[in-house]
Amino acid sequence: MTEMNSARNEKKNMGKGGGCFPSKNKITKTTNKYANSATKSTAADTTVTSPTKNLKVFIVFYSMYGHVESLAKRMKKGVGTVDGVEGLLYRVPETLSEDVLVQMQVPPKDDTILELPSPLELVDADGFLFGFPTRYGCMAAQMKAFFDSTGLLWKEQKLAGKPAGFFVSTGSQGGGQETTAWTAITQLAHHGMLFVPIGYTFGADMFDMDSIRGGSPYGAGVFAGDGSRKATETELAVAEYQGKYMAAVVKKLVHG
Ligand SMILES: Cc1cc2nc3c(=O)[nH]c(=O)nc-3n(C[C@H](O)[C@H](O)[C@H](O)COP(=O)(O)O)c2cc1C
Repeated sequence: MTEMNSARNEKKNMGKGGGCFPSKNKITKTTNKYANSATKSTAADTTVTSPTKNLKVFIVFYSMYGHVESLAKRMKKGVGTVDGVEGLLYRVPETLSEDVLVQMQVPPKDDTILELPSPLELVDADGFLFGFPTRYGCMAAQMKAFFDSTGLLWKEQKLAGKPAGFFVSTGSQGGGQETTAWTAITQLAHHGMLFVPIGYTFGADMFDMDSIRGGSPYGAGVFAGDGSRKATETELAVAEYQGKYMAAVVKKLVHG
């Protein structure tokens, strides 16, 4: 367990708060790492991938209280159901200070899910599923900071042509399930990536009004409520489905 996690464990009974302040140290470190390894293959290289190679869907997410993470884990399972495609889970770096995390009663993170060593590693993926909780109807700043660290890839359009989907978490209904995904599309547009929504392909449950369910045509979603609500089986099933759907799209794009 990291030092930060153990500090947060000690203070886990503190109340939730707010705030969002990026760590200068972390951002500088990321930028340097980024600048050191500028030679990676282009997006076009993925089109000549050997048919025997496992295709990779990177599931890159930020989750403060675990709701997005629960979708991400189930999404990985869905990706793995498609032969020849594997899902890899990656966390984006935290940008809030330890003090703020303690005030917000943020639980320790699952250390078995690693951060990407560098944003440049994104070029190794054949497709992406990006997950994030909403903040005032848009993606959390931690995720935006991660996208902001991909400037060199953007400059050389290394991710152009790669498919990507979104999944989200909101506290409430009407709190941003759709706007959070919708406003994130600009990230893909500037990279020249292909937005892959799930539409209504999940089936009849997309129209079910008998129970509360996160998720939309833009992608899987969960309602966190006051934080104590957990993803329902339907919300998780949509996440698993989205993983499978993206894996199939990736396979078709790469192998035809
Ligand atoms: C600063 C801040 C802003 C938030 N803004 C919204 C919001 O606009 N709409 C909403 O429904 N929930 C909002 N929430 C609740 C979060 O979206 C919720 O904690 C999150 O979806 C839980 O996901 P996680 O467990 O993966 O972190 C906000 C939470 C914080 C801390």
